[in-house]
Amino acid sequence: MTTPGFSADRPLRVGVVGVGWAGQQHLDRYLARPDVEIVGIAGMEAEVLAALAAEHDIPLAVPDWQTLLEQGELDAISVAVPTFLHAPIAIAALDAGVHVLSEKPMARTAEEANAMVAAARRAGRVLQVAFNQRHRGDLAALAEQVASGALGRVYHARASWLRRAGIPTLGSWFTNREMAGGGPLIDLGVHVLDATLRIMGEPRVLTVSAVTHSELGPRGLGGSGSDKQAVGSAYEVEDFATVLLRLEGGASITLESSWATHRPSGDEIALTLYGTDGGADVSVVDYALTPGRYFGTAPDGEADLELEPLQSGGHAQVVDEFLDAIADPASWAEHDGSLGASRTRIIDAAYRSAEAGTEVKLDDDARAPLGHEQEVGA
Ligand SMILES: NC(=O)c1ccc[n+]([C@@H]2O[C@H](COP(=O)([O-])OP(=O)(O)OC[C@H]3O[C@@H](n4cnc5c(N)ncnc54)[C@H](O)[C@@H]3O)[C@@H](O)[C@H]2O)c1
Repeated sequence: MTTPGFSADRPLRVGVVGVGWAGQQHLDRYLARPDVEIVGIAGMEAEVLAALAAEHDIPLAVPDWQTLLEQGELDAISVAVPTFLHAPIAIAALDAGVHVLSEKPMARTAEEANAMVAAARRAGRVLQVAFNQRHRGDLAALAEQVASGALGRVYHARASWLRRAGIPTLGSWFTNREMAGGGPLIDLGVHVLDATLRIMGEPRVLTVSAVTHSELGPRGLGGSGSDKQAVGSAYEVEDFATVLLRLEGGASITLESSWATHRPSGDEIALTLYGTDGGADVSVVDYALTPGRYFGTAPDGEADLELEPLQSGGHAQVVDEFLDAIADPASWAEHDGSLGASRTRIIDAAYRSAEAGTEVKLDDDARAPLGHEQEVGA
């Protein structure tokens, strides 16, 4: 292994598991970095694998992640496979001394996420989670307003990611509870939850109350038309979820996510922030970079502003931040996956709340042994 101190002369040896949409985002950025050498890729689509290996001169292209890990002599690995495989691959890689960038959601449950963090700490290696949507330029413009103090104290956020017909292929791993861990809440909701908590300054989440519904998916409605590999699964997850989070200090967040519901067509990411001195919102339809709005205290809207989107970072920024962390051994302990695990604990609590029909207190959560103090600032 060549880390630390990698460079174009002594590149970091990286492997990517999963060559679907997500894996290829990671690959694209690594390939653009002169200080990284892609030494191997793994995935079950033989044609895609062969084409990528030929195009980019990748020496090792294998169908399973174990062979990549055993033969790649890797310094770092990106994990972009169905969610049930995130924990086993990440833990095996960390145990072998390999830094890990996991796709979101980090894991299906808090227990799995905690085990991943424990493995990172044991190995003294970096574990990061790919939250690319937090780097959207339009959300960054809202974040800038909050950070400048223009909103005062933000006491409520309404965050949502909603689709009318966006189930990522009916019958694929996404709709299988065992493989995915859940539906749109764990898939899309985790992104807007992450972005919102970040914009609000990482407040502590005290309680989670959620309701989930599954009305369209089980009837074969709401498929996106994409062609993820079918695993023959029934529709086993929710297609709509709504969540209320109580935060330390009295603030609140409501979070909604759907893959399929009767609403305007397309895909909409939306965030509204209410603060003591101002408000802000943005509604992003079909991923188009969108100006947000700032609402000042003047009731006639005199102080209102349009918020120009900043530059979006996406997966390139996620990968760059992962490589930056690897390049700085002093930061490894801090990049132990705690932040990603804290998001997973909230989503896990939401599913348990929905199942039990009650509010779940995060502090009383026996499955969340890592204290919140360790989560913040990671
Ligand atoms: N951050 C984002 O914006 C974003 C977007 C899409 C998906 N994702 C996440 O990325 C992950 C993958 O999603 P996707 O849409 O790319 O899925 P996908 O189904 O398109 O691709 C999954 C890949 O994993 C491979 N795979 C499965 N089992 C394997 C094994 N045992 N060994 C090696 N490879 C194996 C498959 O062959 C395939 O290449 C999921 O966790 C998903 O939530 C993130």
